[in-house]
Amino acid sequence: MQAMSVVNVWQDHYLAKTTPWDKGEASPGLIDFLGSRRVETGSVCVPGCGFGHDARAWAEKGFRVLGVDIAPAAVEWASTRARSEGNGAEFVCGDFLEDEPPIQFDWVFEHTCFCAIQPAQRTDYIRAVLRWLKPGGHYLAVNYIIPDVDGPPFGTCRSELLERFSSSFLLREEWVPRSYVNRSNLELMLLWQKRWES
Ligand SMILES: C[S@@+](CC[C@H](N)C(=O)[O-])C[C@H]1O[C@@H](n2cnc3c(N)ncnc32)[C@H](O)[C@@H]1O
Repeated sequence: MQAMSVVNVWQDHYLAKTTPWDKGEASPGLIDFLGSRRVETGSVCVPGCGFGHDARAWAEKGFRVLGVDIAPAAVEWASTRARSEGNGAEFVCGDFLEDEPPIQFDWVFEHTCFCAIQPAQRTDYIRAVLRWLKPGGHYLAVNYIIPDVDGPPFGTCRSELLERFSSSFLLREEWVPRSYVNRSNLELMLLWQKRWES
């Protein structure tokens, strides 16, 4: 029942075309990451993928990508666009927090899904990342560092992220990325590796 209402809220936004989070392009921080590194290609899950711009950016670099979103309208739009571009990105409608993954992925890429869910669901979110990721796999996050408690988006800060993730992940790198104009200096990218024993 609760999951159903979450679906409806997001679906209604997509149907009404009230999607202010969508910038019509992939996260600049992700574009720079993919453009500046020699990262071995593999499988990537993009939870809360929306229209799929980030998922398509990974696919264009040769990764096998699955975007997951709870809103059917977003998944339909993302699938149609990816098919028309022929980049191989795939999309599925589902609840990232609850569903079992079809495989365990080499990468999970986070961009405005963590801030979209209720803060009370953050423990579930971390459990989900652990479930969807291979042991030793990487979790790359563009975190939205804002103070807001009245969301979505719900704010977070570096210390909360470190406290929540450190027991199951090793922090490999962190940096302030290039951002969309209205998010400049409000994002923090963290590259984590799932601990082998987690
Ligand atoms: C703020 S939007 C961000 C979309 C996209 N990442 C972007 O940056 O444009 C949050 C997205 O998360 C999706 N979402 C919310 N809860 C979810 C869940 N439990 N599982 C999968 N997707 C979810 C929503 O439908 C929405 O598309």
